[in-house]
Amino acid sequence: EQREMRMWLEAYELTAKFYEAVLNGTEQGKPAKQYLVERGFTDKMIRTFRIGFAPAFWDKLSQVLESKGYNLSSLEQGGLVRHGNNGYLDLFRERIIFPIHNHQGRIIAFAGRVLHSDQQPKYLNTPETKLFHKSKVLYNLHQARPYIRKKNQIVLFEGYADVIKAWEAGVDNGVAAMGTSLTSEHASMMKRYAAEVILCYDGDEAGQKAAYKNLQVLEQSGLHVKVAMLPPRMDPDEYIMKHGNRTFMTEIIGSPLTSTQFKLQWFKRKYNLNQPDSKLAYIRSSLHIISQLQAPSERELYLKELSRDCDIEIATLKQEMHEMRQENQKKQRIGDNIQKPWNNVMNDR
Ligand code: CTP
Ligand code: MN
Ligand code: MN
Ligand code: MN
Ligand code: MN
Repeated sequence: EQREMRMWLEAYELTAKFYEAVLNGTEQGKPAKQYLVERGFTDKMIRTFRIGFAPAFWDKLSQVLESKGYNLSSLEQGGLVRHGNNGYLDLFRERIIFPIHNHQGRIIAFAGRVLHSDQQPKYLNTPETKLFHKSKVLYNLHQARPYIRKKNQIVLFEGYADVIKAWEAGVDNGVAAMGTSLTSEHASMMKRYAAEVILCYDGDEAGQKAAYKNLQVLEQSGLHVKVAMLPPRMDPDEYIMKHGNRTFMTEIIGSPLTSTQFKLQWFKRKYNLNQPDSKLAYIRSSLHIISQLQAPSERELYLKELSRDCDIEIATLKQEMHEMRQENQKKQRIGDNIQKPWNNVMNDR
């Protein structure tokens, strides 16, 4: 068992070298290299993140691994090859390859992106193996870890490209979950290294929805969360391409919303404020969030904003919040679940 895992790790390392060599030194790799250059990936980024290219052959990697004496049936378990009708086939074909490292810096999996946007799926991962559990891996943690510790802060992105471009811009403490779903395992892992997380998800609807959801996962693990906002329909990579590194660092990473601000603006977008029922629901949801804040001055700050927003006297809001707090305390005493007023907003999507 131990020996097999060691053999897999060696094979992953060799595989990464193979993909890198294809990208950087072969005719096959040229379109991929050109694609990366057009997207603003520099040689330094390609080297540091060990980006590679899986050529459009059926079994080139399988042949290389076999010629080096690896047992392909074991590597099938390791997620590198799969059994076809005539022997073994490569898992990745004609894809840009992003190696996934564990926190110790060993490669344990790969993510492959299509070159042509009409192909599906856009990203393909190594399947789960004994060494690779999606729900426990954070992309780039191995390189970011010392900076995360020093800053006591993690910047969490949605995508690989975002982590890499932001790294060049100066975000040395950036990581990404594999896809948009963040598990409580991820969160408690992050809690071990830092107290604060800046969420920097895509500006599209899917990204913002994931940010809202993951914000709660992070807070449940006791992390302090801020949310760096992007313009609608832009992700960090695209923003950096358009506005440059410095603007990204000051305007986006350097000016995050507080978790409360983010939740309130999220409600504002979700509820139709022109409709009285919906507007009242918006007020109740917002009050619920504000009521959970510890410091009275903090509560007052957001109450004022809400009051301006809805054109309702701050005294009225205060009274309603007071009743809400009492109600919740009563419910907590009898062990009831607190009905969260925004649950229906989340469910209808
Ligand atoms: N993802 C995935 N499988 C997909 C689509 C996305 O695993 N079919 C994951 C990838 O980790 C990806 C992240 O979700 O990086 C964010 O998705 P998306 O925003 O669609 O991709 P980008 O990272 O923006 O990819 P690119 O810039 O290369 O188009
Ligand atoms: Mn092609
Ligand atoms: Mn996205
Ligand atoms: Mn994206
Ligand atoms: Mn992108």
